[in-house]
Amino acid sequence: MSLLVVERLTRSFGGVRAVQDLSFTLPAGGIHSIIGPNGAGKTTLFNLVTGVLRPTGGSIRFKGEEIAGLPPERLAARGISRTFQNLQIFFNMSVVDNVLIGSHLRLDRNVLHALFRLPALRRVERQARRDAEALLERVGLTDWCEAPADSLPYGALKRLEIARALASRPELLLLDEPAAGCNEKETAEIEALLKSLLADGITIVLVEHDMRLVMNISDHIIVLDHGQMLAEGRAREVRNDPAVIEAYLGQAALAAGHAS
Ligand SMILES: Nc1ncnc2c1ncn2[C@@H]1O[C@H](COP(=O)(O)OP(=O)(O)OP(=O)(O)O)[C@@H](O)[C@H]1O
Ligand SMILES: [Mg+2]
Repeated sequence: MSLLVVERLTRSFGGVRAVQDLSFTLPAGGIHSIIGPNGAGKTTLFNLVTGVLRPTGGSIRFKGEEIAGLPPERLAARGISRTFQNLQIFFNMSVVDNVLIGSHLRLDRNVLHALFRLPALRRVERQARRDAEALLERVGLTDWCEAPADSLPYGALKRLEIARALASRPELLLLDEPAAGCNEKETAEIEALLKSLLADGITIVLVEHDMRLVMNISDHIIVLDHGQMLAEGRAREVRNDPAVIEAYLGQAALAAGHAS
């Protein structure tokens, strides 16, 4: 069965149609990249799929069920998680506490309330903390668990964001520019991490301007322009598509190394 089916999805902001009449299907498994110029609608698409925004029209089905308009925490509970284009780190907290914030999404608020101040809560918290430490190990940040988040190098912060997104145990993980601002070594670390998540059975949707990373790693690429699908296919097909080169890849080549 398809994991995610988007049909005639539209989202307008006043007169701007950020996503228009967009349809595509993602099978379970694989790394699916969404590329396109600034303002093409990539982040808006993520906001729609993760419940941050409601669609103006169209449908989004996850594992066969309509999810359009459900709030982010319900979608997290169903297995959809994401990172944000701008770092959403609490810099005054420790690295492990930043991950715990993600895991608390998984705990029912009423249950937490009932358990408040009871030893059971401390047990739940201890387990959550062990889980958070395991996630940090997963992204290569074991040595930084107790460090304040503001002491982390940039590439490590990007991996911390991924660890936090993993705390809700997603089946579908949407990453909005996970390598933006990273140097070559940091980008290689992100690439290795994405491959290992894929090997764990997580389906990845990647928005990224780093074309070397995208072309290396993607099983399937969707090209957006003005909120619409311009092209779709394997890296080789998309890379050689004249419309894609004209709308985006020409610019991307010019901006190589300075991606937003
Ligand atoms: N909350 C909002 N209110 C009004 N307009 C918005 C909002 N979010 C996005 N837009 C507009 O929708 C369009 C698509 O923006 P979006 O952020 O989805 O693009 P993007 O493909 O992620 O671009 P980038 O590569 O620069 O991140 C743009 O014209 C943007 O100005
Ligand atoms: Mg964006």
